Amino acid sequence: MLITHVEIDGFKNLSDISFIPDNYYNIIVGANAQGKTNLLEALWIMSGCKSFRGSKERDYIALDKNRFTSEVGIRDVVREQKITYEMIKGGNITKNITINGVKQKGTRNLFDVFKCIAFIPDDVDIIKGAPEKRRNFIDMAASQLNPVFVAHITKNQAVMNQRNALLKSIMQGGCDASILEIWDKQAAHEGALISYMRDGYIKKLNEVCSGLYSSISGGKEVLELEYKSNVFRAEDFEEPCGEAAFEKYYNKLRESAEYDIRTGITHSGVNRDEINIKINGISAKEYGSQGQIKSAALVIKLAQAEIFTKRSKEAPVVFLDDVMGELDENRQRFVFDIIKNMQVFITTPNESALLPDIKGKILRISGGRIAEEV
Ligand SMILES: Nc1ncnc2c1ncn2[C@@H]1O[C@H](COP(=O)(O)OP(=O)(O)OP(=O)(O)O)[C@@H](O)[C@H]1O
Ligand SMILES: [Mg+2]
Repeated sequence: MLITHVEIDGFKNLSDISFIPDNYYNIIVGANAQGKTNLLEALWIMSGCKSFRGSKERDYIALDKNRFTSEVGIRDVVREQKITYEMIKGGNITKNITINGVKQKGTRNLFDVFKCIAFIPDDVDIIKGAPEKRRNFIDMAASQLNPVFVAHITKNQAVMNQRNALLKSIMQGGCDASILEIWDKQAAHEGALISYMRDGYIKKLNEVCSGLYSSISGGKEVLELEYKSNVFRAEDFEEPCGEAAFEKYYNKLRESAEYDIRTGITHSGVNRDEINIKINGISAKEYGSQGQIKSAALVIKLAQAEIFTKRSKEAPVVFLDDVMGELDENRQRFVFDIIKNMQVFITTPNESALLPDIKGKILRISGGRIAEEV
């Protein structure tokens, strides 16, 4: 997958950005606070995902402007498509998105047109952060492989919101506890499917990661990912997801229903899952060194890219924000070897920190503009 052209104006500090990217390496160079990450972020949101650094949508538009506009060309093995994205400030924020000139209702279809992976310094949160960070990462990565997953995640979230609202209402005597069963049937269906999909993806990820981590650590260390479902045991996943799984999930929800009503939140199901990440048999989160945590996060993202590429016969576009300079030469080579056939956008304040043989288009960014293009 390739970005074939880029136009951005009014996104944060970016002005009049217009360029044709290199098919391989695009190196975005500039001093701190010039707009390097903003450029990656503006491209990233064209995939329909939320900001990779947690920016709020209303902060996308430049402070001194009332709208931002962007356009990208995306080429995959089948065809080239055009995405346009416009956001206008007002009482509410208006979003106008088109794919090939066709107006879109929301961002959902963007995900099918443009697939990308971002490596950012905060990726270490996949290891160090709360369980929610790991669940979100797995869900996002699995969704890239199979868009059906997105529908189940969205549905489950909607059902959970309803269930939690109902719990509060029951607690306050607003309605009868028996209504909960209807929602639990739906929650069980979505939740069981999500559990099985998570298990499938984590198994795949674990397989690829163990090979990659062994290489990056010179064969000295072992990385393992293990899914801890809140409902199912590892052996349950040996059978395909069906009636027995729905029932098991339903029973689990029913078991905690009384407690859920008393507290007003759901205590069982996929929103309580954990993914254990271990290095040499012990928790990376609790015991990992900084270098181990960084390497493990990097390997997990690389594995995501590799799985995606194998499955879709198409490589995602890769964004590397400020991660290369932190890696020693061996680790940089390791990363570049895996992403060598992908289109890459790398940001760095310091060109000389990159391997000298990484050559491609250089974009110098200053004050939110392209100062030089080589
Ligand atoms: N809505 C906005 N309007 C105008 N400018 C903004 C807006 N949001 C952020 N900025 C500006 O963008 C700049 C930061 O850009 P960015 O994060 O892309 O920097 P960077 O080049 O990646 O720097 P670093 O090397 O430190 O990571 C800041 O100076 C900030 O004030
Ligand atoms: Mg930055």
